Amino acid sequence: MLMQKPRSFASYTFLILLFIVNAALVTSKSTIEPCSNSDSCNSLLGYTLYTDLKVAEVASLFQVDPIAVLTANAIDISYPDVENHILPSQLFLKIPISCSCVDGIRKSVSTHYKTRPQDTLSSIADSIYGGLVSADQLREANSIQDPSVLDVGQSLMVPLPCTCFNGTDNSLPAIYLSYVVKPVDTLTGIASRYFTTITDLMNVNAMGSTAITAGDILAVPLSACSSNFPKYASDYGLIVPNGSYAITASHCLQCSCGPGNRNLYCMPASLAVSCSSMQCKNSNLMVGNVTVQQSGGGCNVTSCNYGGYVNGTIITGLSTSLQPRCPGPQQFPPLVAPPTTVTRDSEYAPAPAPQLDGAGTATIPKTTVPVSGSLPGFPPASGPTALGSSSDACSLVNTLATFPATLLLWLFTKLMMPSPM
Ligand SMILES: *[C@@H]1O[C@H](CO)[C@@H](O)[C@H](O)[C@H]1NC(C)=O
Ligand SMILES: *[C@@H]1O[C@H](CO)[C@@H](O)[C@H](O)[C@H]1NC(C)=O
Ligand SMILES: *[C@@H]1O[C@H](CO)[C@@H](O)[C@H](O)[C@H]1NC(C)=O
Ligand SMILES: *[C@@H]1O[C@H](CO)[C@@H](O)[C@H](O)[C@H]1NC(C)=O
Ligand SMILES: *[C@@H]1O[C@H](CO)[C@@H](O)[C@H](O)[C@H]1NC(C)=O
Repeated sequence: MLMQKPRSFASYTFLILLFIVNAALVTSKSTIEPCSNSDSCNSLLGYTLYTDLKVAEVASLFQVDPIAVLTANAIDISYPDVENHILPSQLFLKIPISCSCVDGIRKSVSTHYKTRPQDTLSSIADSIYGGLVSADQLREANSIQDPSVLDVGQSLMVPLPCTCFNGTDNSLPAIYLSYVVKPVDTLTGIASRYFTTITDLMNVNAMGSTAITAGDILAVPLSACSSNFPKYASDYGLIVPNGSYAITASHCLQCSCGPGNRNLYCMPASLAVSCSSMQCKNSNLMVGNVTVQQSGGGCNVTSCNYGGYVNGTIITGLSTSLQPRCPGPQQFPPLVAPPTTVTRDSEYAPAPAPQLDGAGTATIPKTTVPVSGSLPGFPPASGPTALGSSSDACSLVNTLATFPATLLLWLFTKLMMPSPM
């Protein structure tokens, strides 16, 4: 499932050559998911703030909706002026992004960064984007001949790692978090923090051993609630990790997942302003309303459910079912207040020493936080960012030719060894 098998002896030879050429440069590994269609999916980036940043500034770094960043982290959005709340340096956040299929592999290509004085490719990659991208990947993605001369104000495309794996893990709905391994991390620790197992992490990432190195990027499956919206809905494929929220339908609805079950639950959002009707046809129920009626055979449950956002219209659907017992009141994932300090427990690992060559974090003045252009809009749930790539375009050699050097050793090893799956 993870890897395409090499097609010929020539492919092997090619890989061996690349291996020899790149062996000296290779430092960290990343999980690559080959893909062959233009579908995109929702995914998450594990991002550690390199400095104090406003919510809107974090969102602008990734060109995502600030409210979506907050809800993905179960941060209460009802605080006044929450988008201008300052989040502390070293805070770990999950950033929701759209994962596309580009040149036969999964990646996110919707993020751009405007360079500032004193930026280097290394400081952008290792510090500002927290190791989610490498200096080499930035250089290749932007065809930079001479990395020592970056024009200030230049817009760089920032390719970011992501995986979809069909939105499932062991046949259950899952969303994948791209996690940058920190020096203190162990596979056991990561597995327990994200309610998964070592075996599962090893399978997903096609690992031959439990060894991980700081800077590796793991795909971590998070148990989630999936939606069943039609393909023409703008939020098609919405998937919400257990314990969090997503905002959709132009901020009109919020959907939550957990803690009790895997059913996506959507209801009007607290910041809903001018929204199309949320009422179910032929009833007086609104999206999220559930009525129960005890009857002889059990409990007659009627609910008004959200069915996707189509052309600015909130699709609703009434469903009735006879259940053995009446459900209790809807449970919601607990919300946290906008963080002001970083807790030093296992949830937020201690700050890793920045591994920058030359420019350390100290040289990045806090006052020059990037606020590029206008506030970002709502990220497309099924963004059209994927470049068309038929399965034939996914030739191994072509794909590899565009791979960053740091990924090659890993790929090489994986192709040469029997996969544990
Ligand atoms: C993809 O996931 C769907 C359910 O979301 C499942 O029916 C289908 O079998 C999966 N396909 C593969 C190739 O795993
Ligand atoms: C969701 O997370 C909670 C803890 O936050 C856990 O108790 C529950 O089992 C999880 N539910 C699913 C379906 O994974
Ligand atoms: C239906 O949902 C709306 C909004 O969530 C709520 O204000 C209202 O009280 C609910 N009505 C019933 C009958 O549950
Ligand atoms: C359940 O309730 C709905 C409306 O409240 C009603 O139309 C339907 O006939 C009921 N079904 C059963 C099996 O009682
Ligand atoms: C959305 O609206 C456009 C034009 O207003 C129409 O052509 C299209 O069919 C609509 N799409 C859906 C799914 O209703």
